[in-house]
Amino acid sequence: MGRTPSSFRKIDKSLSHSDISHMLSLRDPLANRRLLDAAYWAKSRTLGRTVFLRGLIEISNVCRRNCFYCGIRRDNASVKRYQLTQDQILDAARLAHASGFGSIVLQGGERKDAAFVDFIARTLTRIRQETDRQLGITLSLGEQSADTYGTWFRHGADRYLLRLETTNPDLFRNFHPDDQIYADRLECLAHLRRIGYQVGTGVMIGLPGQTPDDLADDILFFKEHDIDMVGMGPFIPHPDTVHAPLIAGFDRRRQLQLSLRMIALTRLVLPDVNIAATTALQALDPEGRELGLKAGANVVMPNLTDAAHRGDYLLYPGKPQLDEASPAGQADLRETIGMLGEQIGFGLRGDPLHFSRRLRSGRA
Ligand code: 5AD
Repeated sequence: MGRTPSSFRKIDKSLSHSDISHMLSLRDPLANRRLLDAAYWAKSRTLGRTVFLRGLIEISNVCRRNCFYCGIRRDNASVKRYQLTQDQILDAARLAHASGFGSIVLQGGERKDAAFVDFIARTLTRIRQETDRQLGITLSLGEQSADTYGTWFRHGADRYLLRLETTNPDLFRNFHPDDQIYADRLECLAHLRRIGYQVGTGVMIGLPGQTPDDLADDILFFKEHDIDMVGMGPFIPHPDTVHAPLIAGFDRRRQLQLSLRMIALTRLVLPDVNIAATTALQALDPEGRELGLKAGANVVMPNLTDAAHRGDYLLYPGKPQLDEASPAGQADLRETIGMLGEQIGFGLRGDPLHFSRRLRSGRA
């Protein structure tokens, strides 16, 4: 890769809180473009031009939590609840493996009962057995005890995603019932880290009442806490939630642009972490995911949940229902990513560079 163009070098320095906050608020299209280009440049220089795939398997929409913004929250009676069987999960994992996806994500609503903990542990064992231990396995199953996290790690999970949703505790309180406590999530992240997971977190972008200063805090939080992976996406009001009245005035374009700036600034501050171009970007714009990659993200999570259940996992409205597991879907994905000048890391687990660096430096 050549030298950094001089116009980019200016913003590719150590960014302060006020720089980040200021750039999150950029409205001028040219300045905006420059920011996204600089982030893409930083991504390419540090991580090359490879996009890693994670096959997303939405294992269940049964959830004990009642997050105000979420379409599958416990009290939403209009959701048809499902739980995939172990064989269904195994089918999806084998498909990921056979397709050369280096890793999978098992995501689902939060459950803490012993039967569930055991189900996941047994499922992990089978996935490892039946995919020659080659797949990286990420879990995204909410807040759990340190024991549970430990059990799942020992059964073969490598990574865990637990979004904080916001690092502003007051804002967190506005979006969650009283039994959900910000400090508990911090503690969960600390457990995950101690156990040895590659740790991912993230926030929703553009929550009502969230300021550019809040988002700048979020980015600096990721840095201070040595986070390995970041998954962030735009907040999208869901009709079955208290946010339904916001739908009429919802400005998708603005939300998308803010999200892209957030990805870009996260990349500039954290050049070696994995950042996902999340599905929620695609819900705002059919090309949202590609735009995310162009703003510095390096991970894409094609949905492998079988078509029969996909429509029941609607965290937010407009979630794309593409069949990316089919040969045609995969060819499409390859072409789209190829057109960006990137290649797919087929067969690669795609561990975050940040993780290996922190292990090497003894920051376990
Ligand atoms: N808009 C955007 N993201 C949402 N999520 C849940 N509900 C919404 C929404 N309305 C995200 C949360 C959660 C992840 C699984 O989905 O960040 O952690």
